[in-house]
Amino acid sequence: MTTSLPFTRTPNPQPETPERVAEVLEKPGFGQHFTDHMVTIRWNREQGWHDAVVGPYGSLQLDPAAMVLHYGQAIFEGLKAYRQPDGSIASFRPEANAARFRASARRMAMPELPDELFLESVRELIAIDERWVPTADEESLYLRPFMFSTEKGLGVRPAKEYIYVLIASPAGSYFAGGIKPVSVWLSTEYVRAAPGGTGAAKFAGNYAASLVAQAQAAEKGCDQVVWLDAIERRWVEEMGGMNLFFVFGDKVITPELTGTLLPGITRDSLLSLAKDLGYSVEERRVSTEEWEKKAESGELTEVFACGTAAVITPVGHVKHAGGEFSVSEGKTGELTMKLRERLTGLQHGHVADEHGWMTKL
Ligand code: PLP
Ligand code: COI
Repeated sequence: MTTSLPFTRTPNPQPETPERVAEVLEKPGFGQHFTDHMVTIRWNREQGWHDAVVGPYGSLQLDPAAMVLHYGQAIFEGLKAYRQPDGSIASFRPEANAARFRASARRMAMPELPDELFLESVRELIAIDERWVPTADEESLYLRPFMFSTEKGLGVRPAKEYIYVLIASPAGSYFAGGIKPVSVWLSTEYVRAAPGGTGAAKFAGNYAASLVAQAQAAEKGCDQVVWLDAIERRWVEEMGGMNLFFVFGDKVITPELTGTLLPGITRDSLLSLAKDLGYSVEERRVSTEEWEKKAESGELTEVFACGTAAVITPVGHVKHAGGEFSVSEGKTGELTMKLRERLTGLQHGHVADEHGWMTKL
């Protein structure tokens, strides 16, 4: 299998002006502005991975019968590049994103992009769009690798042609409110993933299927939806784009990976960081009854959500079809803030990288 390819570099003849870049970096928001370039790599049955290009950011041309538009073979990843104190740029565990991208591809019967090509595409894009990496500590350059089927045809089967694309977007805070505890709606009407389904893959359809429940959460006055298991509708799985953690005094618990939730890289990292801070950690099922009962007794001291885009966000208030309750009076917990500082400190190069998680780009 091809693990490395020559990249053709075609610089954008009309890059944004330095003034415009400065203006965007002043207030980047999330996913609204894109850099001057993108990477594309093609795959087909005959040639495998080929035609790696770093070119101007711009529209893609698709045949109306492109299989992705009909049968939805589409996956993505999300990772960030962080400006370091010496001005260099590093990413957080990009090999883990590369591996998860391959796992998502396998689940969707798509070709696996070799990790080396995934990492090379990131290095290529950062090299050409370096000036878009913000310097502020709460900010980063969000990288969005994705892949979809491009073959023309309406037969239902795995396509024989795909495109891999990498785009980048300067990112500030994911939630407009900053680090403010969010309220969540426990979804019992809609489910995100069932055993044997696509829940563990970063598959575009999972997100499409979540939107109606997110709208329902908003209708109920909540910021986010919390997904429960498909069968009993009582075991907590995750949020729309984040994994969940529960803190019981000196014990930190996160729902175990049952195959129906996304194996978050932040989740995995926080299990280690919480242990480093002297907490005991456990991956096990957490029921909605346990959540409510122990929040009310005070045994449950903190709940937070975590993910690349949203980093760490406290969960303050919970609503469900039968009522509502708060965790620690809706206040941001101490461990939540400690882990957030540790993680962002590490990512921005202010805390020693004891786990070897940072990769210079
Ligand atoms: N769960 C879902 C559904 C997600 O989309 C994400 C974001 O990628 C996560 C959890 C958190 O994963 P990670 O920490 O790797 O970003
Ligand atoms: C991420 O954290 O990278 C995500 O993918 C979450 C969301 C933006 C879909």
